Amino acid sequence: MPSPAPPEQFDAVILGAGAAGLMCALTAGQAGARVLLLDHADKPGKKILISGGGRCNFTNLESGPAAFLSANPHFCKSALARYTQWDFIEMVSRHGIAWHEKTLGQLFCDGSAREIVDMLLAECQAGGVDLRLSHRVTDIARAERFRIETDRGAFEAPNLVLATGGPSIPKMGASGFAYDAARRFGLRVIDPEPALVPLTLGAAALDLAKPLSGVAFDCTAACAGARFREAALFTHRGLSGPAILQVSSYWRPGDAVSLDMAPGVDAAAALVEAKRARPKIEPQTMLAGLLPARLAKAVAADALPARRVGDIADKTLSALGERLNRWIVEPVGTEGFAKAEVTRGGVGTDGLSSKTMAAKDVPGLYVIGEALDVTGWLGGYNFQWAWSSGWAAGRAIGARDA
Ligand code: FDA
Repeated sequence: MPSPAPPEQFDAVILGAGAAGLMCALTAGQAGARVLLLDHADKPGKKILISGGGRCNFTNLESGPAAFLSANPHFCKSALARYTQWDFIEMVSRHGIAWHEKTLGQLFCDGSAREIVDMLLAECQAGGVDLRLSHRVTDIARAERFRIETDRGAFEAPNLVLATGGPSIPKMGASGFAYDAARRFGLRVIDPEPALVPLTLGAAALDLAKPLSGVAFDCTAACAGARFREAALFTHRGLSGPAILQVSSYWRPGDAVSLDMAPGVDAAAALVEAKRARPKIEPQTMLAGLLPARLAKAVAADALPARRVGDIADKTLSALGERLNRWIVEPVGTEGFAKAEVTRGGVGTDGLSSKTMAAKDVPGLYVIGEALDVTGWLGGYNFQWAWSSGWAAGRAIGARDA
């Protein structure tokens, strides 16, 4: 029997050709390192391709540490400051990719998310990165170098980067692979939970929500000290929309979510005033001054007597107004990893350098991107974390091996 081919040698093996892995690979490669970028999928950057409705919300003008959740809120500061949104915008612009700000600092491609993947691949090529897809990793070991066994051969390198993301959207090949690998090298893993995910409601609340499925409304959603003014959306299982996705990252079982359905308006005063001004109108017409028509109709049927508003007591209108400004919902759960845009928790940052993403006790091991316990708000922040953390690790690897 012929003996198996000896492992191919590299300066760094990066596992995961997603946003963080591609950025790390191009940075290390352009700094002179021989980089192998491995993925089990048949295409690189699959989540980039479907992101932002196909237009990739690739960063946020307001990106900064305050927009990230982590057991150590300071950890993200260094990388975000060293590779900023402006650095990524410079790369996008250098590649001639047209972009626009949609809302709240969120930057999207004018054309397609494919342009971002093509840009990253072109930069990887410029750095001589060896990209190999459809490789299943079967074992990782470490002696003098890391040895990565796959179903298509073995590879060795002094540097190993875990960039395989988190378990959100398993049907796209997302996995908890990074957690298992990190644990094997003694790193702590904080329980991963779905984040930026729709919330589900119990039977009683669903009686109101379900018939309103598809109705969006402007609100301020608050939960566990966090507060977001954006749109919310009723679904057939509960609530979604940007405001709900944002607070879902803070929500824990048992927490209530407070919705101000008339943000910036004293709804109690507004309803009493509307009664004085137009006493002959129906309750749903009055409520439509504050809420979308379908929601106004449902709230009127649920909370007010079926008579002209002039015949409804001020105190009834005031009580409803107060409820509209502070509508309390008690979600029973989330729609889980199948619907989560990102993962909260992950590889604990305490075992890593915040400057380089390198494990403190395992020389040459790096963890970047969503695999780490750093979770951004909705709006391009998670890609910025992938770019910043990938760049930080890539720089460290390049400096060592250049
Ligand atoms: P990512 O998941 O991108 O990449 C991990 C890579 O590792 C994948 O290529 C995967 O195939 C590979 N992999 C996994 N397991 C492996 C294994 N065992 N062996 C080898 N390879 C393996 N964020 C944002 O900022 N703006 C946006 O517009 C959006 N939109 C969006 C839409 C949807 C539908 C989702 C699900 C998510 C978003 N996000 C987003 C979040 C964003 O996609 C996410 O934060 C980044 O992709 C994380 O980048 P990573 O490189 O860490 O992981």
